[in-house]
Amino acid sequence: MKYACGLDYLYAEGAFVWGDYAINQEKESGQPVLRLQIGQPDFPPHRLVRQAIAEAYLEGKTGYGSTLGLEPVRKEVAKEVQRYYKKAKISKDNIAITSGGGKAAICVICRALINKKDRVLVPCYDYPGHLGGISDAGGIWLPYKLLEKKNYDIDVSDLEKQIKKIKAKFVFLLSPSNPTGGVASYQSLERLAFLANKFDLTIITDEIYRGHVFEEKFLSILDFPGMAKRTVIIDGPGKRNCLPGIRVGYIIGPASFIDGPVKKISNVRFSCPPTPEQLGLAKTINHPQVIKYIDEMKNEFKKRRDYVVKTLNTIPGIFCPNSGGAFYVFPNILKTGYTGEKFAKKLLKEKNVCVLPGESFGGGMRDPETGKPYGTYSIRISIASSIETLKEALKRIRDLIVKK
Ligand SMILES: Cc1ncc(COP(=O)(O)O)c(C=O)c1O
Repeated sequence: MKYACGLDYLYAEGAFVWGDYAINQEKESGQPVLRLQIGQPDFPPHRLVRQAIAEAYLEGKTGYGSTLGLEPVRKEVAKEVQRYYKKAKISKDNIAITSGGGKAAICVICRALINKKDRVLVPCYDYPGHLGGISDAGGIWLPYKLLEKKNYDIDVSDLEKQIKKIKAKFVFLLSPSNPTGGVASYQSLERLAFLANKFDLTIITDEIYRGHVFEEKFLSILDFPGMAKRTVIIDGPGKRNCLPGIRVGYIIGPASFIDGPVKKISNVRFSCPPTPEQLGLAKTINHPQVIKYIDEMKNEFKKRRDYVVKTLNTIPGIFCPNSGGAFYVFPNILKTGYTGEKFAKKLLKEKNVCVLPGESFGGGMRDPETGKPYGTYSIRISIASSIETLKEALKRIRDLIVKK
């Protein structure tokens, strides 16, 4: 059988490959692997959410729905996300629900906006799903820098330089970030909003971790003047409501964008999002107990973040910037003498701990200053594991480095 051309260019996500390595290592060593490579909350969905989804199934509500999602569900999602914005107004007309999680939202958005060979600016450490979506649409990604010393805030002067250099039309924004845990500062967002208005940019902003911002309140670029007509948001219940496996996502954008290209592409790709999951979500995402649960989970992640960042910074050769949100830390390990790739492999083989090499988030882009691929000397650690697991994993990381 001959396969279609262009598949080599499709960019796939590494976290799942390392998940397979972890399974093999468990088989070979006969010992469990501490899995700090995957980005899913280690909390179950709230009981009310589970019950509501199960009820929808038991009541046999398993028929087709509408392409953009059922109207009452879109209304509830609009109400839920509205809580996170200071100024922007979100109604059901700004919401599309996808089948296939936030990842499907990314692919639909990219297909709707990006033409073949369009150049798209992305953060130099980016969630690979964005690159998957850009490659699926035939676009080309180019990096703008994040500042390790400023907890991975955007390097706005580099971003401005890149916007001018490539005459950019699109900028991806990711805050809080996977892999870095970085949260874009008010000043960075304000400046990017100014640039977007000046250069007529479309901003594709991934806010899937907006429920997990530790220090301040979540801030979206959508809240800045002039941004409503040029901002499209990737979102979904997977991280906030601990439901990554139901594969539902949200797209938030201008009503004409949602009812136009998003509707058409969604129709072609998946007809409509899953009905029982939508009904379960609609019943519960605005329930006070569910909202409180998300907050409690965030506080637990903050405690782990405090512990992990502090401990990593006591290990010789490691520098770990603070992580302001999501559930990741992205330490620099240059001074240990390892690359992220070598370190992750050795850690898995010798200590049964699975983390991801930073390069998995660099999309093959190179830092012009060092000539090396972005992320060469970093690793991503997910803190979505109990504090006991994290303690044990950090002990093994220390052992590996100290006994080198
Ligand atoms: C930044 C970011 N966006 C989107 C997604 C995709 O989410 P989903 O599992 O809902 O497809 C992820 C998943 O890890 C992510 O980290």
